[in-house]
Amino acid sequence: MKPPEIFETHRLSLRPPQMKDAEAVFQNYARDKLVTRYLHWNPHETIEQTKTFLKRCVHVWQAGTAFPWVMTLKDTSEVIGMIELRIEEHRADLGYVLAREYWEQGLATEAAKLVIDWAIAQPGIFRVWAVCDVDNHGSARVLEKAGMEREGILRRWLYHPNVDKEPRDCYSYSIVK
Ligand SMILES: CC(C)(COP(=O)(O)OP(=O)(O)OC[C@H]1O[C@@H](n2cnc3c(N)ncnc32)[C@H](O)[C@@H]1OP(=O)(O)O)[C@@H](O)C(=O)NCCC(=O)NCCS
Repeated sequence: MKPPEIFETHRLSLRPPQMKDAEAVFQNYARDKLVTRYLHWNPHETIEQTKTFLKRCVHVWQAGTAFPWVMTLKDTSEVIGMIELRIEEHRADLGYVLAREYWEQGLATEAAKLVIDWAIAQPGIFRVWAVCDVDNHGSARVLEKAGMEREGILRRWLYHPNVDKEPRDCYSYSIVK
């Protein structure tokens, strides 16, 4: 099952990442320590790291193993973040990241809601889920506002190397039908 390549919300346009996005992704958020704090990767130190990551994004779309979209502002086409859906059997999970300059404007919720709504509407998908670090309050709120329920804590679930050397407890959120 492949989701649409293009999604539109009120303020955002989502499209598959391209290699030419490297400069914007690197400059706008991938090198930002605050943005990557609760992510499983370290901030990029060079644009080469961003290019390697984007190569993976292009590859996973072709392979159908994951579906990342860059979030661009409809007004300016600026690349301000990314959201990714992964489909496995009857389950789909998502993750997202947004440039710090655009936080607290409802944009992550807008993107997440669209992708979640699409996924749960698919006949073969019965569970859409996401996890976030127990200290990542912004992300937890995004998932709640996008219609998910907190179902528990996955103890020692993920490494978030910018917070701790040891695996972290994460909230698990889902929507099911
Ligand atoms: C988490 C993140 C995606 C939130 O994006 P955003 O566009 O600012 O979120 P929204 O504006 O849609 O906000 C949704 C809710 O979360 C709240 N919120 C956002 N950031 C918050 C923060 N740092 N602390 C507490 N609440 C926060 C908002 O106030 C809003 O709640 P409200 O309507 O009840 O006031 C963004 O901060 C980010 O990219 N962080 C770094 C990457 C990351 O952690 N990704 C998620 C990994 S699981």
